[in-house]
Amino acid sequence: DIDLFEGQYAVPEGMAYNSYVIFDEDIAVMDTVDARFGDVWMANLTAALGKREPAYLVVQHMEPDHSANITRFMDAFPEARMVASAKAFEMLANFYGVDYAERRVVVKEGSELALGERTLRFIAAPMVHWPEVMMTYCPEERVFFSADAFGKFGANDVDHGGVEAGDWACEARRYYFGIVGKFGKQVSALLKKVAGLDIRIICPLHGPVLSENLGYYLDLYTTWAAYGVETPGVAIAYCGVYGHTKEAALLLAEELKAAGCPKVAVSDLARDDMAEAVEDAFRYGTLVCMSTTYNNDMFPFMKTFIDHLADHAYQNRTVALVENGSWAPNAAKAMRAKFETCKDITFAEPVVTIKSALDDESRAAIRELAKALVR
Ligand code: FEO
Repeated sequence: DIDLFEGQYAVPEGMAYNSYVIFDEDIAVMDTVDARFGDVWMANLTAALGKREPAYLVVQHMEPDHSANITRFMDAFPEARMVASAKAFEMLANFYGVDYAERRVVVKEGSELALGERTLRFIAAPMVHWPEVMMTYCPEERVFFSADAFGKFGANDVDHGGVEAGDWACEARRYYFGIVGKFGKQVSALLKKVAGLDIRIICPLHGPVLSENLGYYLDLYTTWAAYGVETPGVAIAYCGVYGHTKEAALLLAEELKAAGCPKVAVSDLARDDMAEAVEDAFRYGTLVCMSTTYNNDMFPFMKTFIDHLADHAYQNRTVALVENGSWAPNAAKAMRAKFETCKDITFAEPVVTIKSALDDESRAAIRELAKALVR
């Protein structure tokens, strides 16, 4: 039901906002949902609770896609206490003008909350995805409540009970690099803490509950957090005006495949989803940026693309540059200057210049570039 997640990401398959109820002597509810889904959530929660009253609302993350219904919950269950980090309580006052001074339980790294037979142990996860985030581990059930981590775009598949089905990585990768790509160091720190836990199920705040092959998800996160190369191959991102740069991009893709490149992903930066182009740039080890020259600079979509990469701490990659220009080609120089602000970028040779349209010379240069990249 939403057009853009967090105001910028297209989610053609919708979005899931998860909230969990833990039944024990004391009942804990984990997080609320986005404002738009408060009625559905409250109805589901009331049905799940039956006649019982929850003792706690655990707030792992104060971003409004999870916190928007806190006051509604606290009003509906006046005996319940809110459990969160000190920073989350600061945000609570700023967002909603309440402090629940008499109803708060402040937790930090290592704090425990006994519910009866089960315990909730809190894990600080600053910047995954905001500074106040507190994830939760239940040792008796070996369940890790991972807040935004291990989430994905797309509504949950109710036919599978909200448990993983199909290709998780595709929309989880686009989500990861969009949401927390910049915070690889913090995600790595979290993964180190999580490595010491015995986990049977991961319950994120978005996307399906993960209950099988957990090593697969943890390994992917380890690679992503370290800015490692996930898939051998080349991502090509291009933009232009009259199709000549596109023609060069498609030629390069063919030449790369012919030279044995295992995977080539091509994005038209003006028309394809920008977050998907960003995701591909992080997925593969080599990125080719191809842009026409415009106002003595690169084309605007390329500028936006490279800004997104730099903003998300793009690093540790090989970058090749192809420019087009009808009287004063200058896009390659401009693109290079932007990438020089990123860490550990190796620039590939040759830099290819197309003068308006492909000719024998530029075709040969594209072929040479393809061979160099595959080598
Ligand atoms: Fe799903 Fe950072 O909120």
